[in-house]
Amino acid sequence: MSCYLNGRFLPLADAKVPALDRGFVFGDGVYELVPVYSRKPFRLDDHLRRLQGSLDGIRLANPHEVSEWHELIVELIDLQDFADQSVYIQVTRGAPAEGQPPRDHALPKGVQPTVFMFAQPLVTASPAQKAAGVCAVSAADNRWLRCDIKATSLLANILLRQQAVDAECAETVMLRDGFLTEGAASNIFVVKDGVLLAPPPSNLMLTGITYDVVLELAAAHGIPHAVRAISEAEVRSADELWMTSSTREVMAIVKLDGVPVGAGVPGPLAQRMDALYQTFKQEVMRA
Ligand code: PDD
Repeated sequence: MSCYLNGRFLPLADAKVPALDRGFVFGDGVYELVPVYSRKPFRLDDHLRRLQGSLDGIRLANPHEVSEWHELIVELIDLQDFADQSVYIQVTRGAPAEGQPPRDHALPKGVQPTVFMFAQPLVTASPAQKAAGVCAVSAADNRWLRCDIKATSLLANILLRQQAVDAECAETVMLRDGFLTEGAASNIFVVKDGVLLAPPPSNLMLTGITYDVVLELAAAHGIPHAVRAISEAEVRSADELWMTSSTREVMAIVKLDGVPVGAGVPGPLAQRMDALYQTFKQEVMRA
């Protein structure tokens, strides 16, 4: 498996970064995860725009122009021997230079960021998994207040996701001050009385590329929808609950904290949106 590190393509096992890299010592970095279907990156410009937003959010200059990112990512994709990929892109603030303090919270000057990318086979849910749906647990969102930055420091998300894993579930649905934010690694949608509800983008959540596509598809296909704050009571009395992400796509949550969501099976709108999403992907791949 080939990866990219600071200007070179090399086998993943040979990629080495200095122990003092601030990504390692402080979690001082940002990332993206781009799904690739039949060697075509999905919504790459949207991912690169979000990467720019994350870099701006941590005051780190983007080491590449958009056109350079395109070239590097296309080359990385071409080097893999599998067609459907999940491309991980990480930019950290790099390792301090000679003569600089080895570990200092303050932002160092004149340090080259570390750019690392690798690709894995993209594993999306099977039709059987989609037909079954998944269970989720809920938890208080105890993350920081810049959840719109796709930061590599994911300790809170990891611990929150583990609560779901411990309960043999797929996701943790997070609530802050009585309102839905998102999943530990996904966005969450609610369906009530035929209306698709999505929480509004803010500093309290990461606006998913899949989230955007789902709302675009809802608008294009006349599905009633609203982007607004969603209360915990609305989450708990939802007819349907979905999680969305680049790897999970549109996945129905059929049980929350052990209680069936709606009829306890993937609802009609989840099935319709998944079908629209699959068709949309095919169209993008053919374009
Ligand atoms: N995470 N919110 C959070 C906290 C996420 O980590 C993710 C995705 C999303 C959905 O974003 P998108 O639709 O662009 O994938 C929302 C990726 C998949 C990850 O960390 O692996």
